[in-house]
Amino acid sequence: MKAIRADLLDFNTAPAWGAIDDPSVRWRPDHWLLIDSDGRIAGVQAQAPGPEWQRHDHRGQLLMPGFIDTHVHSPQLGVMASYGTELLDWLNTYTFPAETAWADPGVAAAGSERFISALLAHGTTAAVVFPTVHRSSVDALFETASRHHMRIISGKVLMDRHAPDGLRDTVAQAERDSIDLIQRWHGQGRNSYAVTVRFAPTSTPEQLAMAGALCRADASLYMQTHVAENQAEMRWVAELFADARSYLDVYARDGLVHARSVLAHGIWLDDDDRAALAAVGAQIAFCPSSNLFLGSGLFDWPQALDAGVAVSVATDVGGGTSLNMQRNLACAYQVQALRGQRLTAWVALHAATRGAAQALHLGHEMGSLEPGCWADVCIWDWSHGVVDGHRQSMVETSQAQGLHERVFAWMLLSDERHLASTWVAGTEQHRRSVGHHTTAFA
Ligand code: GUN
Ligand code: ZN
Repeated sequence: MKAIRADLLDFNTAPAWGAIDDPSVRWRPDHWLLIDSDGRIAGVQAQAPGPEWQRHDHRGQLLMPGFIDTHVHSPQLGVMASYGTELLDWLNTYTFPAETAWADPGVAAAGSERFISALLAHGTTAAVVFPTVHRSSVDALFETASRHHMRIISGKVLMDRHAPDGLRDTVAQAERDSIDLIQRWHGQGRNSYAVTVRFAPTSTPEQLAMAGALCRADASLYMQTHVAENQAEMRWVAELFADARSYLDVYARDGLVHARSVLAHGIWLDDDDRAALAAVGAQIAFCPSSNLFLGSGLFDWPQALDAGVAVSVATDVGGGTSLNMQRNLACAYQVQALRGQRLTAWVALHAATRGAAQALHLGHEMGSLEPGCWADVCIWDWSHGVVDGHRQSMVETSQAQGLHERVFAWMLLSDERHLASTWVAGTEQHRRSVGHHTTAFA
Protein backbone atom coordinates (compact mmCIF):
# COMPACT_ATOMS: atom_id res chain seq x y z
CA MET A 1 0.00 0.00 0.00
CA LYS A 2 1.37 3.36 -1.09
CA ALA A 3 0.53 6.96 -0.34
CA ILE A 4 1.60 9.94 -2.47
CA ARG A 5 1.60 13.46 -1.07
CA ALA A 6 1.12 16.25 -3.62
CA ASP A 7 -1.28 18.93 -4.89
CA LEU A 8 -4.11 16.80 -6.31
CA LEU A 9 -6.18 17.98 -9.28
CA ASP A 10 -8.97 16.11 -11.06
CA PHE A 11 -12.62 16.59 -12.10
CA ASN A 12 -15.99 15.44 -10.71
CA THR A 13 -17.93 16.19 -13.88
CA ALA A 14 -17.52 17.98 -17.19
CA PRO A 15 -16.69 21.70 -16.75
CA ALA A 16 -18.88 24.18 -18.58
CA TRP A 17 -17.37 25.87 -21.64
CA GLY A 18 -15.76 29.16 -20.63
CA ALA A 19 -16.35 28.80 -16.86
CA ILE A 20 -13.35 29.79 -14.73
CA ASP A 21 -14.92 29.11 -11.33
CA ASP A 22 -16.42 25.73 -11.99
CA PRO A 23 -17.69 23.23 -9.41
CA SER A 24 -16.47 20.35 -11.56
CA VAL A 25 -12.87 21.10 -10.53
CA ARG A 26 -11.62 19.01 -7.62
CA TRP A 27 -8.58 20.75 -6.15
CA ARG A 28 -7.01 19.20 -3.08
CA PRO A 29 -3.68 20.92 -2.39
CA ASP A 30 -1.20 19.07 -0.19
CA HIS A 31 -3.27 15.88 0.15
CA TRP A 32 -2.39 12.21 0.19
CA LEU A 33 -3.48 9.82 -2.56
CA LEU A 34 -3.84 6.31 -1.11
CA ILE A 35 -3.18 3.32 -3.37
CA ASP A 36 -4.23 -0.26 -2.55
CA SER A 37 -1.85 -3.17 -2.82
CA ASP A 38 -3.58 -4.12 -6.09
CA GLY A 39 -2.79 -0.73 -7.66
CA ARG A 40 -6.20 0.90 -7.34
CA ILE A 41 -6.99 4.22 -5.69
CA ALA A 42 -8.21 3.68 -2.13
CA GLY A 43 -8.97 7.30 -1.28
CA VAL A 44 -7.68 10.80 -0.70
CA GLN A 45 -7.06 12.46 2.65
CA ALA A 46 -5.48 15.58 4.12
CA GLN A 47 -3.75 13.92 7.06
CA ALA A 48 -0.66 11.72 6.77
CA PRO A 49 -1.52 8.02 6.62
CA GLY A 50 -0.29 5.45 9.14
CA PRO A 51 3.01 3.56 9.04
CA GLU A 52 1.52 0.68 7.05
CA TRP A 53 1.49 2.99 4.00
CA GLN A 54 4.73 3.44 2.04
CA ARG A 55 5.00 7.21 1.70
CA HIS A 56 6.09 9.15 -1.38
CA ASP A 57 6.44 12.80 -0.55
CA HIS A 58 5.93 15.05 -3.59
CA ARG A 59 4.71 18.09 -1.69
CA GLY A 60 4.87 21.22 -3.85
CA GLN A 61 4.27 19.18 -7.02
CA LEU A 62 1.10 18.65 -9.03
CA LEU A 63 -0.51 15.21 -9.24
CA MET A 64 -3.13 14.57 -11.91
CA PRO A 65 -4.64 11.51 -13.55
CA GLY A 66 -2.37 10.32 -16.37
CA PHE A 67 -3.24 11.74 -19.76
CA ILE A 68 -5.25 9.71 -22.27
CA ASP A 69 -4.12 10.22 -25.87
CA THR A 70 -7.10 9.16 -27.98
CA HIS A 71 -5.32 9.12 -31.34
CA VAL A 72 -1.63 8.41 -31.92
CA HIS A 73 0.41 6.32 -34.37
CA SER A 74 3.05 3.99 -32.89
CA PRO A 75 5.16 3.71 -36.10
CA GLN A 76 5.32 7.46 -36.73
CA LEU A 77 7.81 8.81 -34.17
CA GLY A 78 10.38 8.84 -36.96
CA VAL A 79 8.29 11.01 -39.29
CA MET A 80 7.53 13.78 -36.79
CA ALA A 81 8.45 17.23 -38.08
CA SER A 82 8.77 16.20 -41.74
CA TYR A 83 8.87 19.38 -43.81
CA GLY A 84 6.58 20.90 -46.28
CA THR A 85 3.46 18.86 -47.09
CA GLU A 86 -0.26 18.59 -46.45
CA LEU A 87 -1.93 15.31 -45.54
CA LEU A 88 -2.02 13.31 -48.78
CA ASP A 89 1.52 14.19 -49.87
CA TRP A 90 2.74 13.75 -46.30
CA LEU A 91 1.34 10.21 -46.24
CA ASN A 92 2.94 9.24 -49.57
CA THR A 93 6.25 10.99 -49.04
CA TYR A 94 7.04 10.22 -45.42
CA THR A 95 4.52 8.10 -43.60
CA PHE A 96 3.79 5.13 -45.83
CA PRO A 97 7.52 4.42 -46.40
CA ALA A 98 8.15 4.54 -42.63
CA GLU A 99 5.26 2.15 -41.92
CA THR A 100 6.44 -0.29 -44.59
CA ALA A 101 9.54 -1.00 -42.49
CA TRP A 102 7.29 -2.42 -39.72
CA ALA A 103 6.68 -5.55 -41.81
CA ASP A 104 9.84 -6.74 -40.04
CA PRO A 105 8.74 -8.02 -36.59
CA GLY A 106 12.08 -6.94 -35.12
CA VAL A 107 11.48 -3.36 -36.26
CA ALA A 108 7.92 -3.50 -34.88
CA ALA A 109 9.11 -4.84 -31.51
CA ALA A 110 11.87 -2.26 -31.08
CA GLY A 111 9.59 0.52 -32.34
CA SER A 112 6.80 -0.45 -29.94
CA GLU A 113 9.23 -0.40 -27.01
CA ARG A 114 10.39 3.05 -28.04
CA PHE A 115 6.79 4.23 -28.46
CA ILE A 116 5.45 2.94 -25.12
CA SER A 117 8.38 4.26 -23.12
CA ALA A 118 7.99 7.61 -24.91
CA LEU A 119 4.30 7.78 -23.98
CA LEU A 120 5.17 7.17 -20.32
CA ALA A 121 7.97 9.76 -20.46
CA HIS A 122 5.53 12.35 -21.82
CA GLY A 123 2.84 11.83 -19.15
CA THR A 124 0.46 9.57 -21.07
CA THR A 125 -0.79 6.44 -19.30
CA ALA A 126 -3.44 5.24 -21.79
CA ALA A 127 -3.86 5.57 -25.53
CA VAL A 128 -5.89 4.71 -28.61
CA VAL A 129 -3.22 3.70 -31.09
CA PHE A 130 -2.80 3.11 -34.83
CA PRO A 131 0.00 0.60 -35.42
CA THR A 132 0.46 -0.66 -39.03
CA VAL A 133 -1.24 -3.02 -41.44
CA HIS A 134 1.06 -5.81 -40.21
CA ARG A 135 -0.18 -8.26 -37.59
CA SER A 136 3.10 -8.23 -35.72
CA SER A 137 2.78 -4.48 -35.12
CA VAL A 138 -0.33 -5.21 -33.04
CA ASP A 139 1.25 -8.09 -31.12
CA ALA A 140 4.32 -5.98 -30.35
CA LEU A 141 2.25 -3.03 -29.14
CA PHE A 142 -0.05 -5.05 -26.85
CA GLU A 143 2.85 -7.15 -25.52
CA THR A 144 4.87 -4.08 -24.62
CA ALA A 145 1.94 -2.16 -23.12
CA SER A 146 0.90 -5.20 -21.06
CA ARG A 147 4.27 -5.22 -19.32
CA HIS A 148 3.51 -1.68 -18.12
CA HIS A 149 -0.15 -2.46 -17.26
CA MET A 150 -1.31 0.31 -19.58
CA ARG A 151 -4.79 0.60 -21.05
CA ILE A 152 -4.26 0.41 -24.80
CA ILE A 153 -6.95 0.33 -27.46
CA SER A 154 -5.63 -0.70 -30.85
CA GLY A 155 -5.99 -3.00 -33.83
CA LYS A 156 -4.49 -3.99 -37.14
CA VAL A 157 -4.77 -1.17 -39.68
CA LEU A 158 -7.10 -2.06 -42.56
CA MET A 159 -5.93 -0.74 -45.93
CA ASP A 160 -6.39 -2.64 -49.20
CA ARG A 161 -5.90 0.10 -51.82
CA HIS A 162 -4.14 3.40 -52.58
CA ALA A 163 -1.08 2.42 -50.60
CA PRO A 164 2.34 1.10 -51.68
CA ASP A 165 3.38 -2.53 -51.94
CA GLY A 166 4.07 -3.98 -48.53
CA LEU A 167 1.42 -1.82 -46.90
CA ARG A 168 -1.77 -3.33 -48.32
CA ASP A 169 -3.86 -6.27 -47.17
CA THR A 170 -6.84 -7.97 -48.84
CA VAL A 171 -10.37 -8.25 -47.50
CA ALA A 172 -9.97 -11.96 -46.73
CA GLN A 173 -6.52 -11.70 -45.11
CA ALA A 174 -7.55 -8.63 -43.13
CA GLU A 175 -10.63 -10.41 -41.82
CA ARG A 176 -8.63 -13.48 -40.75
CA ASP A 177 -5.93 -11.37 -39.07
CA SER A 178 -8.46 -9.17 -37.29
CA ILE A 179 -10.44 -12.13 -35.92
CA ASP A 180 -7.24 -13.79 -34.78
CA LEU A 181 -6.00 -10.65 -33.05
CA ILE A 182 -9.38 -10.01 -31.42
CA GLN A 183 -9.29 -13.50 -29.94
CA ARG A 184 -5.74 -13.05 -28.75
CA TRP A 185 -5.93 -9.56 -27.28
CA HIS A 186 -9.44 -8.15 -26.76
CA GLY A 187 -10.18 -8.14 -23.03
CA GLN A 188 -6.79 -9.58 -22.12
CA GLY A 189 -5.63 -7.49 -19.16
CA ARG A 190 -6.12 -3.83 -20.06
CA ASN A 191 -5.99 -4.42 -23.81
CA SER A 192 -8.99 -3.68 -26.02
CA TYR A 193 -9.27 -4.25 -29.72
CA ALA A 194 -10.31 -1.54 -32.14
CA VAL A 195 -11.42 -2.27 -35.69
CA THR A 196 -8.99 0.14 -37.36
CA VAL A 197 -9.92 1.54 -40.75
CA ARG A 198 -7.06 3.84 -41.80
CA PHE A 199 -9.38 6.20 -43.70
CA ALA A 200 -11.97 5.81 -46.43
CA PRO A 201 -9.59 6.27 -49.41
CA THR A 202 -7.39 3.30 -48.44
CA SER A 203 -10.22 0.77 -48.05
CA THR A 204 -12.42 -0.69 -50.78
CA PRO A 205 -16.18 -0.66 -50.17
CA GLU A 206 -15.85 -4.44 -49.61
CA GLN A 207 -13.29 -3.93 -46.87
CA LEU A 208 -15.43 -1.27 -45.18
CA ALA A 209 -18.36 -3.70 -45.21
CA MET A 210 -16.16 -6.40 -43.64
CA ALA A 211 -15.02 -3.96 -40.94
CA GLY A 212 -18.64 -3.06 -40.20
CA ALA A 213 -19.51 -6.74 -39.89
CA LEU A 214 -16.74 -7.18 -37.30
CA CYS A 215 -18.22 -4.33 -35.26
CA ARG A 216 -21.74 -5.72 -35.51
CA ALA A 217 -20.57 -9.14 -34.37
CA ASP A 218 -19.18 -7.81 -31.07
CA ALA A 219 -20.48 -4.56 -29.55
CA SER A 220 -17.57 -4.46 -27.09
CA LEU A 221 -15.08 -3.74 -29.89
CA TYR A 222 -13.89 -0.20 -30.48
CA MET A 223 -13.57 1.39 -33.94
CA GLN A 224 -11.01 4.01 -34.88
CA THR A 225 -10.42 5.93 -38.08
CA HIS A 226 -9.70 9.35 -39.57
CA VAL A 227 -12.48 11.58 -40.92
CA ALA A 228 -12.83 15.01 -42.51
CA GLU A 229 -9.27 16.13 -41.80
CA ASN A 230 -8.18 17.95 -44.95
CA GLN A 231 -9.85 19.64 -47.94
CA ALA A 232 -8.10 17.62 -50.67
CA GLU A 233 -8.98 14.45 -48.74
CA MET A 234 -12.64 15.59 -48.61
CA ARG A 235 -12.69 16.01 -52.41
CA TRP A 236 -11.05 12.61 -52.95
CA VAL A 237 -13.55 10.84 -50.71
CA ALA A 238 -16.44 12.57 -52.51
CA GLU A 239 -15.08 11.20 -55.83
CA LEU A 240 -14.41 7.69 -54.54
CA PHE A 241 -17.76 7.38 -52.75
CA ALA A 242 -20.04 9.50 -54.93
CA ASP A 243 -23.13 7.75 -53.57
CA ALA A 244 -22.45 8.59 -49.90
CA ARG A 245 -24.16 11.64 -48.37
CA SER A 246 -20.93 12.73 -46.67
CA TYR A 247 -17.49 11.48 -45.68
CA LEU A 248 -18.85 10.35 -42.30
CA ASP A 249 -21.69 8.56 -44.06
CA VAL A 250 -19.15 6.31 -45.83
CA TYR A 251 -18.45 4.86 -42.39
CA ALA A 252 -21.93 5.20 -40.89
CA ARG A 253 -23.74 3.27 -43.61
CA ASP A 254 -21.54 0.24 -42.93
CA GLY A 255 -22.14 0.31 -39.17
CA LEU A 256 -18.74 1.76 -38.29
CA VAL A 257 -20.06 4.74 -36.34
CA HIS A 258 -21.18 3.66 -32.89
CA ALA A 259 -20.73 4.33 -29.16
CA ARG A 260 -17.16 2.99 -29.21
CA SER A 261 -16.00 4.84 -32.32
CA VAL A 262 -13.11 7.28 -32.09
CA LEU A 263 -12.95 9.52 -35.15
CA ALA A 264 -9.82 11.60 -35.50
CA HIS A 265 -10.04 15.25 -36.65
CA GLY A 266 -13.62 15.85 -37.84
CA ILE A 267 -12.73 19.41 -38.85
CA TRP A 268 -14.90 19.47 -41.99
CA LEU A 269 -18.01 17.64 -40.75
CA ASP A 270 -21.43 19.20 -41.29
CA ASP A 271 -24.43 19.57 -38.95
CA ASP A 272 -25.96 16.26 -40.02
CA ASP A 273 -22.66 14.48 -39.36
CA ARG A 274 -22.42 15.97 -35.88
CA ALA A 275 -26.02 14.97 -35.16
CA ALA A 276 -25.21 11.43 -36.31
CA LEU A 277 -22.18 11.25 -34.00
CA ALA A 278 -24.17 12.60 -31.05
CA ALA A 279 -27.04 10.18 -31.68
CA VAL A 280 -24.80 7.15 -31.17
CA GLY A 281 -22.29 8.63 -28.70
CA ALA A 282 -19.22 8.44 -30.96
CA GLN A 283 -16.37 10.79 -30.09
CA ILE A 284 -14.13 13.14 -32.04
CA ALA A 285 -10.41 13.08 -31.22
CA PHE A 286 -9.32 16.67 -31.77
CA CYS A 287 -5.65 16.70 -32.85
CA PRO A 288 -4.58 20.35 -32.59
CA SER A 289 -0.82 20.18 -33.15
CA SER A 290 -1.32 17.92 -36.14
CA ASN A 291 -4.05 20.13 -37.60
CA LEU A 292 -1.74 23.14 -37.33
CA PHE A 293 1.37 21.35 -38.59
CA LEU A 294 -0.32 19.78 -41.64
CA GLY A 295 -2.36 22.94 -42.28
CA SER A 296 -5.56 20.88 -42.07
CA GLY A 297 -7.90 23.42 -40.50
CA LEU A 298 -9.23 24.88 -37.26
CA PHE A 299 -11.54 22.49 -35.42
CA ASP A 300 -14.60 24.19 -33.86
CA TRP A 301 -14.83 22.67 -30.37
CA PRO A 302 -17.91 24.58 -29.07
CA GLN A 303 -19.80 23.68 -32.23
CA ALA A 304 -19.21 19.98 -31.51
CA LEU A 305 -20.21 20.45 -27.86
CA ASP A 306 -23.39 22.30 -28.84
CA ALA A 307 -24.29 19.35 -31.05
CA GLY A 308 -23.77 16.99 -28.09
CA VAL A 309 -20.63 15.31 -29.48
CA ALA A 310 -17.92 14.21 -27.03
CA VAL A 311 -14.51 15.72 -27.81
CA SER A 312 -11.22 14.30 -26.58
CA VAL A 313 -7.75 15.58 -27.38
CA ALA A 314 -5.02 13.64 -29.12
CA THR A 315 -1.47 14.14 -30.33
CA ASP A 316 -1.77 12.35 -33.70
CA VAL A 317 1.99 11.88 -33.71
CA GLY A 318 3.64 11.84 -36.28
CA GLY A 319 1.26 14.42 -37.87
CA GLY A 320 1.35 16.02 -34.42
CA THR A 321 4.48 17.73 -33.23
CA SER A 322 4.67 16.43 -29.66
CA LEU A 323 3.62 13.39 -27.64
CA ASN A 324 3.19 15.69 -24.66
CA MET A 325 -0.45 16.51 -23.96
CA GLN A 326 0.15 19.96 -22.43
CA ARG A 327 1.77 21.05 -25.68
CA ASN A 328 -1.23 19.78 -27.59
CA LEU A 329 -3.63 21.45 -25.17
CA ALA A 330 -1.70 24.69 -25.65
CA CYS A 331 -2.20 24.27 -29.41
CA ALA A 332 -5.89 23.57 -28.75
CA TYR A 333 -6.16 26.88 -26.89
CA GLN A 334 -4.53 28.66 -29.84
CA VAL A 335 -6.78 26.97 -32.41
CA GLN A 336 -9.85 28.05 -30.46
CA ALA A 337 -8.42 31.56 -30.05
CA LEU A 338 -8.12 31.80 -33.86
CA ARG A 339 -11.83 30.95 -33.98
CA GLY A 340 -12.63 33.71 -31.47
CA GLN A 341 -13.23 31.23 -28.66
CA ARG A 342 -11.54 30.71 -25.30
CA LEU A 343 -10.63 27.23 -24.09
CA THR A 344 -10.31 27.04 -20.31
CA ALA A 345 -7.69 24.88 -18.63
CA TRP A 346 -10.61 23.02 -17.07
CA VAL A 347 -12.30 22.00 -20.31
CA ALA A 348 -8.90 21.11 -21.81
CA LEU A 349 -7.57 19.04 -18.90
CA HIS A 350 -10.91 17.31 -18.35
CA ALA A 351 -11.03 16.32 -22.03
CA ALA A 352 -7.53 14.84 -21.74
CA THR A 353 -8.39 12.82 -18.60
CA ARG A 354 -11.84 12.01 -17.27
CA GLY A 355 -13.70 13.20 -20.36
CA ALA A 356 -11.68 10.87 -22.60
CA ALA A 357 -12.10 7.98 -20.16
CA GLN A 358 -15.86 8.43 -20.07
CA ALA A 359 -16.16 8.77 -23.84
CA LEU A 360 -14.31 5.44 -24.05
CA HIS A 361 -16.69 3.93 -21.45
CA LEU A 362 -13.74 3.54 -19.11
CA GLY A 363 -14.55 6.21 -16.54
CA HIS A 364 -14.82 3.53 -13.88
CA GLU A 365 -11.15 2.57 -14.29
CA MET A 366 -9.20 5.69 -15.22
CA GLY A 367 -9.19 9.43 -15.83
CA SER A 368 -9.83 10.54 -12.25
CA LEU A 369 -8.71 10.10 -8.65
CA GLU A 370 -11.95 8.30 -7.69
CA PRO A 371 -11.58 5.35 -5.33
CA GLY A 372 -11.67 2.12 -7.34
CA CYS A 373 -9.91 3.55 -10.41
CA TRP A 374 -6.46 2.26 -11.28
CA ALA A 375 -3.80 4.58 -9.91
CA ASP A 376 -2.74 5.88 -13.35
CA VAL A 377 -1.24 9.21 -12.29
CA CYS A 378 1.52 11.67 -13.16
CA ILE A 379 3.48 13.95 -10.88
CA TRP A 380 4.53 17.24 -12.42
CA ASP A 381 6.68 20.21 -11.43
CA TRP A 382 4.69 23.41 -11.32
CA SER A 383 7.66 25.04 -13.03
CA HIS A 384 10.95 23.87 -14.43
CA GLY A 385 13.02 26.91 -15.28
CA VAL A 386 13.60 30.56 -14.61
CA VAL A 387 10.91 31.82 -16.94
CA ASP A 388 7.94 29.64 -16.03
CA GLY A 389 9.14 29.74 -12.41
CA HIS A 390 8.85 33.51 -12.56
CA ARG A 391 5.40 33.23 -14.14
CA GLN A 392 4.23 30.83 -11.43
CA SER A 393 5.58 33.09 -8.68
CA MET A 394 3.67 36.02 -10.20
CA VAL A 395 0.48 33.94 -10.20
CA GLU A 396 1.00 32.86 -6.61
CA THR A 397 1.49 36.42 -5.37
CA SER A 398 -1.52 37.88 -7.21
CA GLN A 399 -4.29 36.47 -5.06
CA ALA A 400 -7.00 37.87 -7.33
CA GLN A 401 -6.11 35.52 -10.16
CA GLY A 402 -7.17 32.26 -8.57
CA LEU A 403 -6.49 28.64 -9.34
CA HIS A 404 -7.43 28.77 -13.01
CA GLU A 405 -4.70 31.32 -13.71
CA ARG A 406 -2.11 29.07 -12.10
CA VAL A 407 -3.18 25.88 -13.84
CA PHE A 408 -3.65 27.64 -17.19
CA ALA A 409 -0.11 29.09 -17.01
CA TRP A 410 1.17 25.61 -16.17
CA MET A 411 -0.73 24.04 -19.06
CA LEU A 412 0.63 26.57 -21.57
CA LEU A 413 4.23 26.69 -20.35
CA SER A 414 4.97 23.12 -19.24
CA ASP A 415 5.92 20.00 -21.14
CA GLU A 416 7.52 16.61 -20.54
CA ARG A 417 10.52 18.22 -18.86
CA HIS A 418 8.18 19.02 -15.95
CA LEU A 419 7.28 15.35 -15.51
CA ALA A 420 8.77 13.89 -12.33
CA SER A 421 7.19 10.45 -12.51
CA THR A 422 4.48 8.40 -14.17
CA TRP A 423 2.54 5.69 -12.34
CA VAL A 424 0.39 3.05 -13.97
CA ALA A 425 -1.89 0.81 -11.90
CA GLY A 426 -0.08 1.90 -8.75
CA THR A 427 3.47 1.24 -9.92
CA GLU A 428 5.98 3.85 -10.97
CA GLN A 429 6.72 3.20 -14.65
CA HIS A 430 8.81 6.24 -15.45
CA ARG A 431 10.95 8.50 -13.35
CA ARG A 432 12.90 11.51 -14.58
CA SER A 433 16.59 10.78 -14.54
CA VAL A 434 18.69 12.04 -11.68
CA GLY A 435 20.05 15.54 -11.93
CA HIS A 436 16.78 17.18 -12.86
CA HIS A 437 15.08 17.31 -9.52
CA THR A 438 14.94 15.69 -6.13
CA THR A 439 12.26 13.25 -5.08
CA ALA A 440 11.90 12.75 -1.37
CA PHE A 441 10.87 9.26 -0.33
CA ALA A 442 9.88 9.10 3.31
N1 GUN B 1 -5.25 9.90 -42.62
C1 GUN B 1 -4.93 8.65 -43.02
N2 GUN B 1 -3.80 8.22 -42.44
C2 GUN B 1 -3.38 9.22 -41.63
C3 GUN B 1 -2.26 9.36 -40.76
O1 GUN B 1 -1.41 8.49 -40.60
N3 GUN B 1 -2.18 10.56 -40.09
C4 GUN B 1 -3.11 11.53 -40.24
N4 GUN B 1 -2.96 12.66 -39.54
N5 GUN B 1 -4.15 11.42 -41.06
C5 GUN B 1 -4.30 10.28 -41.75
ZN1 ZN C 1 -3.82 9.98 -37.32
